[in-house]
Amino acid sequence: MSKLFKIVKDNATSLHSKSVEVSEITPEIISLVNDMAEYLKLSQDTSFREKHHLREGVGLAAPQIGKNIRALVVYFEEENEDGSIRVVDHRLINPKIISESVKKVYLSGGEGCLSVDDEHKGYVYRNYKILVKAYEVSQGKEVVITARGYEAIVLQHEIDHLNGVLFYDHIDKKDPFKVLPDSIRL
Ligand code: NI
Repeated sequence: MSKLFKIVKDNATSLHSKSVEVSEITPEIISLVNDMAEYLKLSQDTSFREKHHLREGVGLAAPQIGKNIRALVVYFEEENEDGSIRVVDHRLINPKIISESVKKVYLSGGEGCLSVDDEHKGYVYRNYKILVKAYEVSQGKEVVITARGYEAIVLQHEIDHLNGVLFYDHIDKKDPFKVLPDSIRL
């Protein structure tokens, strides 16, 4: 049975605050991150979601479950061009973007967030390609992840949470659907 986290909503000041680095990788931190990953994965299961009145997510950051520490999980599946399924499963502690492309990407339908119930319409521009250095819980060591497109968007959204930034903070208030030249639309 998965732990049912109570999701902190964006009216809480903690969601607008910077989270602290994890100074030591303890068994408690590792099981917390694994519990977050399990919760996230189950949120994508329709019957589990309906039974527990949850929303579906593809990413979850520790501040969203009331822990202002630098840890996050990402989980989604996507179809490759050849029809095979690629599973994206990140369980990261102290993630840091070490490189990013100039090229931007955005979701045509905008972004959403488990902590944000109100609608905020507009495009959120992210870097199309990023390199993220982090301690990967599922591998038990530090890794460098190369992410592009949707995966890069989700990682940047979650890393933003660790800095107290929400997706709508990026939306241009005067021109929310402004299209940047040379950006990639997904
Ligand atoms: Ni979010």
